[in-house]
Amino acid sequence: MVDRAPPPKDPEMALSTESPPALRAVPITPDHDPPGADRLGLSPAEIEQFRTQGFVVKRGLIPRSAFKPFIDLWWQQPPVTAAGLSRDQGGWRAPGEHWPKENRWGLASNWMGGGAWPSPEDERPGATVGERVGRLPYKLTRDMSNDVWRWHGIGHDPAFVAATSAHPRMLYMLEALLGGPVKRPRRNRGIYAVFPRDPEAPASRLGPHMDQSMTELSAVTYLEDVPPDSGGFTIYPTSPQLLYPTSAQAINWVATERSAEVMDHIKTNIQPLEFTGKAGDVIFCHGWIVHSAGIHETDRIRFAAVQDFNKVRERSHMRWTAAGKNGGPRINCDMDGVFRFSGESDDDPADGHREVTNQWIMDSNEFVLARPEPFDDMFREWNLGRRPVEGNVVDEPAWWEKYSLPLLPTGGMPRGTGGTPAVPLSDIAEYGGDGIWRVTSRANDWMRS
Ligand SMILES: [Fe+2]
Repeated sequence: MVDRAPPPKDPEMALSTESPPALRAVPITPDHDPPGADRLGLSPAEIEQFRTQGFVVKRGLIPRSAFKPFIDLWWQQPPVTAAGLSRDQGGWRAPGEHWPKENRWGLASNWMGGGAWPSPEDERPGATVGERVGRLPYKLTRDMSNDVWRWHGIGHDPAFVAATSAHPRMLYMLEALLGGPVKRPRRNRGIYAVFPRDPEAPASRLGPHMDQSMTELSAVTYLEDVPPDSGGFTIYPTSPQLLYPTSAQAINWVATERSAEVMDHIKTNIQPLEFTGKAGDVIFCHGWIVHSAGIHETDRIRFAAVQDFNKVRERSHMRWTAAGKNGGPRINCDMDGVFRFSGESDDDPADGHREVTNQWIMDSNEFVLARPEPFDDMFREWNLGRRPVEGNVVDEPAWWEKYSLPLLPTGGMPRGTGGTPAVPLSDIAEYGGDGIWRVTSRANDWMRS
C-alpha cells in the first residue's frame, strides 16, 4: 500500500518525451482482426489480444444511423457555418484561419459564480491575466499539421452519450472487458474532428503520448468512415503492458523515472497501428495506452467520439488546479485533496477567491481511494472472459452532480454548449493555515446514503 500522496500534477499534462517517433503506422484493417470482431462479446483470441497487446476492435458495434443526428448538428454549429464549411461542397482543408477567433459563444455567465468566461486579455479577480481557462467547447486548435476541433460541449449531451458511450452494446463490451460493477457513462470527450491539412503545411507527424488520466478503459468510435491515412486514431500496442509496472500505483497512474525510459523505448521500437474502419466501428484500449492523432493526408474530415470508462470504486478526489494569482504559480491539488501554497510570492496563501478548475471534458475525473502497488497480473480486476455479462452497470452520480458544479447548458443555451467554469477555491476547500487548503470529498457519499 502506498500511503503518502504522490506530488500533484497538472491535470492537462500528458506523458511524452523528446525523442521523435521512429516508425510510421500500419493500418488496422478488418483482415487483421482476430475472429469475433463482428460479434458482441469477446472471443478467446480477442481476450488474448487485449491481454497481450492492450486493445481490441469491434466492427459495426453501433449502427451508423445512431450518429446521424449528431453529424447533422455538427454541420449546423456556429463556428462551422461561420468558417464557411458546407457539407456538400468539400474543400474543408485547414478551416482554422476562418474560425471565429474568440470561441466563448455557448458559455453561460457562470465564471467564478457569475461572470463571463475570460479571454486571454481580461483582468480577473481570481487569477493572473492570461491564465488558462481550461477547455472551451468551440475551440479549434491549429496543430502541427492539421486543424482539430474538439467539440467537448456535445460530450455531455444525454442523447449523444446514449448513442455512444452508454449505448447498450457499448455497456455490454465494457462489462465484458472491465467487469462489473461498471460506472454508467455520463459524458465523454465529445466529437473530435480532424480536418484535411493545408497542402502548404508540413506533412502530418505522429505525436505519441499517454494521457495520465484516471481512465481504466478508453474507446474511440468512428462516426463516419475512416480509411487509411485519414487521421485514424493511432496506438502503440503493448504499451500499457510495458508502462504498467513503472507506475507507483496499480489503479491510479503515477509516473516514475522509469516511465519516461519505457516511453522512449515504445516510441523507438514499437510498431504503431492506425485504427481504420467504418462508422460504428470501435477500438477499445487499456486506459494507459500510448497513442497519437493519426496521419492525415486525405481530403476527408475525421469524425470520432473519444471516450473514457471506469469501474465503480471508492474514490478520493478530483484533480483540481488553482490558477496563479499576484505573481504566484499555478498550484494543483494532490490525491488527498490538498493544495499547498507557499508564501514565497505576493500571493496570499489564505486567499480563497482564486480560480479553481478541473478537467471537465472527462467522465473519469476522480482518483481511486485505495493505493496498492501494481499487481503481478495487471488484469487481475478485469473480466476478460472470467464471468458472463449480466448487466452489472451502476448509476453512479456524475462528478459534477456529486460536487454540485455547473456543466450542462443553462439559460436557454442550445445543445452542444456548456462546460464547467472556474469556481472560487473557498467553495470547494477549507483553509487550515500554513498555506494548506483541503478539499472536502463528496466522492462516496452516494454509496452511503
Ligand atoms: Fe491523448
